[in-house]
Amino acid sequence: MTNPQRRPLIAGNWKMNLCLKGSVALVRALADGLSKPFEGPEILVVPPFTALSVVSEALKGSPIQLGGQNLHWEEKGAFTGEISPEHLKDAGCTHVLIGHSERRQYFGETDATVNKRLKAALKAGLVPVVCIGETLAERESQKTYRVLETQTTGALQGLQAADLKTLVIAYEPVWAIGTGKNATPEQAQEVHLFIRKLLAHLSSETIAREVRIIYGGSVKPDNIELLAAQEDIDGALVGGASLSAESFIKIVNGVKKG
Ligand code: PGA
Repeated sequence: MTNPQRRPLIAGNWKMNLCLKGSVALVRALADGLSKPFEGPEILVVPPFTALSVVSEALKGSPIQLGGQNLHWEEKGAFTGEISPEHLKDAGCTHVLIGHSERRQYFGETDATVNKRLKAALKAGLVPVVCIGETLAERESQKTYRVLETQTTGALQGLQAADLKTLVIAYEPVWAIGTGKNATPEQAQEVHLFIRKLLAHLSSETIAREVRIIYGGSVKPDNIELLAAQEDIDGALVGGASLSAESFIKIVNGVKKG
């Protein structure tokens, strides 16, 4: 990335993995393994809800930030099984993932519910990481850009340009998640540029230049460098490779510019 206004972000999405002991061991190993003083990208870990408070405690004094994997749009009430923005903040979160493709695919997440969650996150002062991405069938039928445009427009519906300053977009081609097949740096750059232009159209050039667009889908220590070197790729959302301190630190250290 070349715009110094955008500090790269490396986020580790642990998904439905690790219990308390393993979560604490992982973040301790991460914190110990970072160079000191740490001057690289912004780092975020996104554990399961049940581990948030212990991880938050274990991260005290480290530069690593904490995020939730989802949130509900209501502040509180009779919503069994849901987690509110306040719950996340109370547990130490500063960030939240919204609209991950697994939520869209398995749990009925739609652009409309992504929009509600995004508004709730912004209202609560949480940094939203909104995930978008096309499936293999959509890519093969040349629908990639149409799908991304619909997802982005739907997510940002009714938001003012100023609301978008803290937004992070994660472009995650669904066909690249957990498959070992990642988009080439050029393929990803092309899509990131398209998203940035779309953001300029939906808000303003200034905002579009500030919003970080990170890439996700089989990011590993051996492909991060080339991905992160692309002009419009501002970091990565990492799944599988974030579950090992060794590989996650290599990914963090693979982001050279900031
Ligand atoms: P992956 O997952 O790195 O295991 O492909 C990325 C994600 O789903 O966020």
